[in-house]
Amino acid sequence: MNSSDHSSQNITDLVQHTLEDLGVRDRAGVQELFNQLEVRLQDYIRQIRDSDEFKKISRGETLERGERHPSVDTEAVRVLWLGRKQGIVRFITDNWLAPAPPELKREIGQGLNALRASVEEKIASLINPPTVVNEPEQGIDITLPGTRRTVGVRHILRQAMDEITEIFFALGYSVEEGPDIESVYYNFEALNIPEDHPARDDQDTFYIDARTVLRTHTSPVQIRTMEKLQPPLRIIVPGRAYRRDTPDATHSPMFHQVEGLAVDTHITFADLKGTLDYFLKAFFGPEVRTRFRPSFFPFTEPSAEVDISCLFCGAQGCRICKQSGWIELMGCGMVDPALYSYVHYDASVYSGFAFGMGVERLAMLKYGVQDIQLFFQGDVRFLRQFR
Ligand code: PHE
Repeated sequence: MNSSDHSSQNITDLVQHTLEDLGVRDRAGVQELFNQLEVRLQDYIRQIRDSDEFKKISRGETLERGERHPSVDTEAVRVLWLGRKQGIVRFITDNWLAPAPPELKREIGQGLNALRASVEEKIASLINPPTVVNEPEQGIDITLPGTRRTVGVRHILRQAMDEITEIFFALGYSVEEGPDIESVYYNFEALNIPEDHPARDDQDTFYIDARTVLRTHTSPVQIRTMEKLQPPLRIIVPGRAYRRDTPDATHSPMFHQVEGLAVDTHITFADLKGTLDYFLKAFFGPEVRTRFRPSFFPFTEPSAEVDISCLFCGAQGCRICKQSGWIELMGCGMVDPALYSYVHYDASVYSGFAFGMGVERLAMLKYGVQDIQLFFQGDVRFLRQFR
């Protein structure tokens, strides 16, 4: 066999060898090899082009059962020649070009580029045959696969809020909502937050005008709901809240809260504890322990801060819980009777509790997210992790 005639050799076998193995030592030999590859490539393309299936599709006809769409063969040819790991072009790069003597590299490189361009061009012409279709309706091929759209996922914050809502649904709560742009009356006044309270400071609050703010919490919906409905009342309020915070890993000027409110006769602090303990175990897992610490909010009395045992160290003490074994999670308390006078409930008959939690904070702890900004950047690499 003439050392430059490899036309009968299996093509994938051919590209497994170095040029030296193949007995190719000069530029003419290299050119001859690439010519032979081009001939093989044309054979592959011709086979598809001559197939009954390709002709039918080109005429706008429909394939029978058992017939294979030419795009399947076209894709196979593409993988055979251009496949990134096992394609012929890849093998030539690794087996011919890389170990070749310097004086042949240029020739091989040019042959390789021409071959790659030829494959691409021929495949493109199979996919979009340059035929002129006179009647457009005939050009529509309903057997072609449709355009695939990327399937999205619910945003992880939405998933967390839905999960919180589900847990409270099971306890007989219903959902209420209120406006993001809120009056000072609902956001502060009716919640017993006096004019000189630091929470009203324009350092913490986005004022639209003197009487209107972006709500700093979801608590105004407590008042709106009590104005609207009579006890017994069990509601949760998922929604956005706004504060003038500088963005960093744990702060964002816009964030999400879920508020809760229950008002009825004979509601005690024990009901509040039982409810939140149940909720937190349902959300974080049954091994979680809860702790209520005295705190202060103008609209609850008594007030408490709820902690959970640290999820990361099993309450042994670590950086995340600042060595305390506990993680601060949410505010709560018994509805301050002062609120009932604003909504005309009889404070001698009714009692209730309220709570408010930050959704980002809960989600960060549950899913191990280190930076709150990730929730708002819309980077699909982050978002698609939460399918
Ligand atoms: N509104 C409070 C906050 O944003 C949380 C809270 C809600 C506290 C309900 C007690 C009762 O910090």
